[in-house]
Amino acid sequence: MQTARAQLISPELHERFRTAERVVVLTGAGVSAESGVPTFRGGGNTTVWKGMPFDVISSATMVQRDLPAVWEWFDYRRNLLKQLKPNAAHHAIADWQQQFPHLTVVTQNIDGLHQAAGTNNVIELHGSIWRSRCIDCNSRPEIPRDERRDSLCYECGNHLRPDVVLFGEMLPPGAFELAVERAAASDLCLVVGTSALVYPAAGLPEIAKSSGAFVCEVNPERTPLSDLCDEVITGKAGDLLPLFSQ
Ligand code: APR
Repeated sequence: MQTARAQLISPELHERFRTAERVVVLTGAGVSAESGVPTFRGGGNTTVWKGMPFDVISSATMVQRDLPAVWEWFDYRRNLLKQLKPNAAHHAIADWQQQFPHLTVVTQNIDGLHQAAGTNNVIELHGSIWRSRCIDCNSRPEIPRDERRDSLCYECGNHLRPDVVLFGEMLPPGAFELAVERAAASDLCLVVGTSALVYPAAGLPEIAKSSGAFVCEVNPERTPLSDLCDEVITGKAGDLLPLFSQ
């Protein structure tokens, strides 16, 4: 009787996974879905907050216009996250640190669940919901889990905003450049739980592919990246990622 792994993961992918040295894992909201973190898209829906599409409330324009409203949205998401734990997908990726000499986890997620599962040196392309940023001096204080969030900067007294990349903003300096470097040097690129609609993050698998890496997508739905991938595994990350090491 064929094992679940043998049914879902091709011998070629299994071999690539067994022999890979430099691995890049790009994750999106879908990797945290089984922890209870709502995705933004997928299933034909998009998130709406108080009548505003999420890409309106999560925008640079809204920070200018109504910073308290932006905080209200991120405070709501942060309070949701407090009770949530990493799932089997996060743990599988964390375990791969023992297997691969060079593992780079690049995430679009701001939830900190990769780090909570024990993954080190996560490249956070879109920042973190657990940090604030001063709109003037750029200091980045951590937001304590169980204490009140500060709204003014200790260094200069100016307003703090979420240290999250909002629509209409550039990615944190250096983060994307490092991700590109790692993708271009990778021999295996796993794309997990992203709709691959938001650039420049969605461009990383293309860079890996054009540099010779084997690219595999894990998602219950097809995405604009699926045709580019050497292998597409349809299903939930929490069910599938643990199978890779079996
Ligand atoms: N396992 C794997 N993938 C899943 C699962 C699961 N259990 N559940 C849902 N998915 C997939 C969906 O099919 C969808 O393709 O995860 C994807 C989630 O897509 P989005 O919600 O668009 O999230 P993401 O791709 O991370 O969005 C990118 O857009 O909204 C901005 O800044 C935000 O970082 C985010 C960026």
